[in-house]
Amino acid sequence: MFGSSTRDVPEVRNVPRHIAVIMDGNGRWAKKRFLPRVAGHKKGLDAVRETVTACKELGVEYLTLFAFSTENWRRPQDEVSFLMDLFIRALEHEVNKLHSNNIRLKVLGSRERFSAELAERIQAAEDKTAGNDGLVLSIAADYGGRWDVLNAVNELIADGASAITEDMLAQRLSTSWAPEPDLFIRTGGEQRISNFLLWQLAYSELYFTDLLWPDFDRQALEQAIDSYRSRERRFGRTSEQLPEALRRN
Ligand code: IPE
Ligand code: IPE
Ligand code: MG
Repeated sequence: MFGSSTRDVPEVRNVPRHIAVIMDGNGRWAKKRFLPRVAGHKKGLDAVRETVTACKELGVEYLTLFAFSTENWRRPQDEVSFLMDLFIRALEHEVNKLHSNNIRLKVLGSRERFSAELAERIQAAEDKTAGNDGLVLSIAADYGGRWDVLNAVNELIADGASAITEDMLAQRLSTSWAPEPDLFIRTGGEQRISNFLLWQLAYSELYFTDLLWPDFDRQALEQAIDSYRSRERRFGRTSEQLPEALRRN
């Protein structure tokens, strides 16, 4: 169980242990090519594959990808249906590969609004890969940061808690088994969190790129990690208080 970066100072490593990504810009990628928006989502899956492989090879331990937000249900019905189908097909075709690469798959978010078929495939994929101890790949789908915090609080209330501590809350979040993200990446040029991991990003290094998600590749990931390495992670302390190896100034 991992604690909270506002209570304990986490270890800082050269390669981020946990990377969280908002994969944005699929629609614009397609529009630029006079293709329907959904062609961008399809192409985005290639970028997911490349990013997963690169993270595994670089020694990243946790990769969390935002695939569908609680707000994305507001999109046109045919785009939502396409995304749900794409998710089903991706689970169908990719899980064996993930499994043979020792990758553990987790899906974060509420499953109540998913079709029975999708919910079953998610469960089966999680069960199949549960014993793997390589990269943990989390897909946030029907996920919202506010949903996550409220869900945790409601669970604690249901268990009779009256005063809630940071550690109690962190242990009920959908990412309770992971350290908080060291590096947050958002593609597509927007500089906002869009209700992703609100609690967990408290001390993450933020990295924004104008690259559209379907164009994101290993080189782009390495650039983000290079930027991360240039940061001084102080967690409230002064630069002088940091061990020499972690000082950047
Ligand atoms: C991100 O790309 C994928 C999802 C939100 C599912 P977008 O579909 O938001 O692409 P843009 O932002 O419209 O270009
Ligand atoms: C955020 O992208 C959600 C995902 C990438 C899944 P959006 O494109 O939906 O974000 P906003 O609404 O423009 O902030
Ligand atoms: Mg977008």
